[in-house]
Amino acid sequence: MADSQPLLITGAHGTLGQAFRRVCRIRGLHAMALDRAALDVADAASVESAVRQHRPWAVVNAAGYVRVDEAEADDARCYRENTVGPRRLAAACAAHGAQLLTFSSDLVFDGQQAEPYREGDPARPLNVYGHSKLLAEQAVLARLPAALVVRTSAFFSAWDEHNFVHHALAAARAGRPFAAADDLVMSPTYVPDLVNTALDLLLDGARGRWHLANQGPCTWAELARLALRTAGLDEACVQPRPAAAFGWAAQRPRYSVLGSAHGALLPSVESGLQRHLKDERLLQSANPPAVLVG
Ligand SMILES: NC(=O)c1ccc[n+]([C@@H]2O[C@H](COP(=O)([O-])OP(=O)(O)OC[C@H]3O[C@@H](n4cnc5c(N)ncnc54)[C@H](OP(=O)(O)O)[C@@H]3O)[C@@H](O)[C@H]2O)c1
Repeated sequence: MADSQPLLITGAHGTLGQAFRRVCRIRGLHAMALDRAALDVADAASVESAVRQHRPWAVVNAAGYVRVDEAEADDARCYRENTVGPRRLAAACAAHGAQLLTFSSDLVFDGQQAEPYREGDPARPLNVYGHSKLLAEQAVLARLPAALVVRTSAFFSAWDEHNFVHHALAAARAGRPFAAADDLVMSPTYVPDLVNTALDLLLDGARGRWHLANQGPCTWAELARLALRTAGLDEACVQPRPAAAFGWAAQRPRYSVLGSAHGALLPSVESGLQRHLKDERLLQSANPPAVLVG
């Protein structure tokens, strides 16, 4: 297996990068994951050198700048990581005959639509982060039309603590109140489902824009309540608030639900939450099974 061309994963230590490493290990896919020090996606020489050295059959770009509110004042860095990086990767993949999988966001949409956004619906971002992702999509597909661009949203998983569902569960278990927006409707995404399906699409040679999120649109407050209910915890700690009450720097679409012209590829949010809780229990047990060890 090690003699075969690898998948090259960028952003090795992030949520998505770690999840790709884990799933590739579970599925027996030969993968090489590099962090920013080994591969800075926005540095042309760094990208060229990594692709030349590792000769991947495909690059999975799990790197990115995800701090949506900070991006409003830190736009140069946001565009560097989110737009320049994917563009450089697409150029290197085109030059070396490699496929590219990169990730975009529901925040490319303005929220004016009243039904789930499909891949062909017009994108009009409301904030710097969304704009950086839309520019990346356009640059990648112009340079490498066969690239796979996955729009996704609102990650949750027990594989790390950097997500909304983890924070909601932690607050409820500690008896703390948990405020959550009740006027933004979105599509929660269970990271293992996203990674497995994105890998399936990559292996199948899928190209262009694809929307991948679990089925079951909800507000953030509804997601918190659903997570607590699934865990058998008291939902009373969830305090629904209008988004305006949080004083966020970035404007967000009131509705950014992802539908797909390709059909519903991921299962329900409830199914994702049940597996999130099962993974939590396995990871907390004294001897987690080998497939869950990071
Ligand atoms: N999280 C979500 O809910 C969500 C929703 C929709 C789409 N996405 C997209 O999914 C992708 C991954 O998100 P994530 O949540 O996994 O983010 P994350 O946990 O913040 O990880 C991002 C990783 O990218 C690395 N990185 C940033 N700039 C880099 C560069 N120039 N070169 C190499 N590595 C770089 C970071 O490294 P450092 O630690 O060194 O900065 C970090 O390890 C992003 O494209 C994001 O826009 C995420």
